[in-house]
Amino acid sequence: MSAPTTAFWLAHYDEVHRGSHAWLDYSNERVQGQSLSLALEALGSIEGRRCLDVGAGRGQLAKMLSALGASHVTAIELVENTVRKLRAEAPQIEWRAGDAGDARSYAGLGGFDVVAAVEVLQYVPFAPTLELLFSLLRPGGRLVGVIPNRACPMVRRPIERYEGRFGAVSSEELAGVLGVLPGLLLWRHKGLHFADDQRLLPYEVSAWSGQAGGLSGVPNRFVFVALREGAMGEASVSQE
Ligand SMILES: C[S@@+](CC[C@H](N)C(=O)[O-])C[C@H]1O[C@@H](n2cnc3c(N)ncnc32)[C@H](O)[C@@H]1O
Repeated sequence: MSAPTTAFWLAHYDEVHRGSHAWLDYSNERVQGQSLSLALEALGSIEGRRCLDVGAGRGQLAKMLSALGASHVTAIELVENTVRKLRAEAPQIEWRAGDAGDARSYAGLGGFDVVAAVEVLQYVPFAPTLELLFSLLRPGGRLVGVIPNRACPMVRRPIERYEGRFGAVSSEELAGVLGVLPGLLLWRHKGLHFADDQRLLPYEVSAWSGQAGGLSGVPNRFVFVALREGAMGEASVSQE
């Protein structure tokens, strides 16, 4: 996104972060909980891995990665006040205030085995940021994201409300960007459909598909994973 767009989201999220909800502007805590759980599942083994979480929000995922035995966790978040609080709360994590779409935010950080971008890619230029995040992976590493589906009628509302500042991608667009990442071993996506009865869990989740448009129905969101070539990734594929 352009600098004014990043400034717009910074002002928006600065306000949201001042609110009392742990789930920020997700619909509710169960939507956030299931989104983070699906990302965690897709990230695979964490113990001993170098991890990066971008658009870290209140830091729940970064803290989970740390608790699961990551060798090092770095978390990047736009809202500086929150970063300051999180640094005091969980000093074992490297918290950085910065723009996930700006290469300068990652200067001097080195490579990662796992990179997570949950509900943040709609606020940054999608293709260049995905390429940037994928380039931070060490051989065998994996990138996981959760992003709204542009084809879903419910997602058209924020797209219209935020007048081009809110990005979202179709399955075909996602496949087009993931499929040509340099060093890609494989990519897959799952569709998240809001369930009719959301009392237990808000989303019904499809199986993985590596085909553009290969998911049934019109999901509200996608979880995607992209594995980088290398020994660790190949070992993980055989377990999936
Ligand atoms: C919907 S929340 C998701 C937070 C967290 N990933 C989660 O799932 O709970 C989006 C987060 O991305 C942050 N954000 C928005 N634009 C960003 C950017 N350009 N760089 C880094 N973080 C950004 C917001 O401040 C907010 O905390």
